[in-house]
Amino acid sequence: MAKPFAPKLKRPIKIAVINRKGGVGKTNTTINLACEFVNRGYATVIADTEKEGGCVHWQTLAGDDAKVPVVGMYDPMIKVNIKAYEGSNDIILIDTAGIIVDMDDEEDGKASKINSAVMAMADYVIVPLQPAPADFRATEVCVESLSKIQGFRDGAPFFRVLLTSTRANEDLTRMALELFGEDYPYPVFKTTIRRSEEFKKAHAYGQGIVDYAKRSESANDIRDLADEVLRDLDEGRA
Ligand SMILES: Nc1ncnc2c1ncn2[C@@H]1O[C@H](COP(=O)(O)OP(=O)(O)O)[C@@H](O)[C@H]1O
Ligand SMILES: [Mg+2]
Repeated sequence: MAKPFAPKLKRPIKIAVINRKGGVGKTNTTINLACEFVNRGYATVIADTEKEGGCVHWQTLAGDDAKVPVVGMYDPMIKVNIKAYEGSNDIILIDTAGIIVDMDDEEDGKASKINSAVMAMADYVIVPLQPAPADFRATEVCVESLSKIQGFRDGAPFFRVLLTSTRANEDLTRMALELFGEDYPYPVFKTTIRRSEEFKKAHAYGQGIVDYAKRSESANDIRDLADEVLRDLDEGRA
């Protein structure tokens, strides 16, 4: 088997997984990608910025066997706090909360501030969505704010949209592939993460799919996604 693509990174890279909507596959993408990065030899840590977040819970399920350390960071000062992890890691994956319902609500307001702080410091952003009209809309909004931030940050963060939970021969998946296909004005991953119950099983054991079911379609999807992200980094897009 060919050696997996694992280019040397010149500096620690902060990869955030963001979409203001919940249930789009942010946590699933973060955990599984992080496990694959570890398999390729990168020192990796997950920062979970969601209160009682899914990554922290995943680590609890894994106990001492967790493949990737997870740190909870529920503070809008995240930029400062994350610095402590930059020296000893190649990749910092940041999982974020799905929010913006009620800005007057204290928790929502805080989560929103954290999300903005993450957008302002990330090197690279993955914007996942599932094939559903509400996700299409939320993704448009998210991508537009990222594009605005690029205007202030000299083009950073580089981002790509990721279709998750796709299904062959499903109308909504076809619709999503059309909307977020070649004609979409922003970058989109070629890889899509297909819908599979295997992800949930792996999660229940505190594992990533690339270890739980190495030869599954889902593990292939995650390895393809890792290839694309690492190619972007190697080619200096972030
Ligand atoms: N590719 C997939 N196949 C099957 N289930 C998935 C997939 N991606 C996510 N899910 C499931 O969908 C739900 C929401 O995903 P999650 O990653 O927690 O979203 P978010 O973090 O954006 O809220 C979870 O139950 C998760 O297990
Ligand atoms: Mg989540």
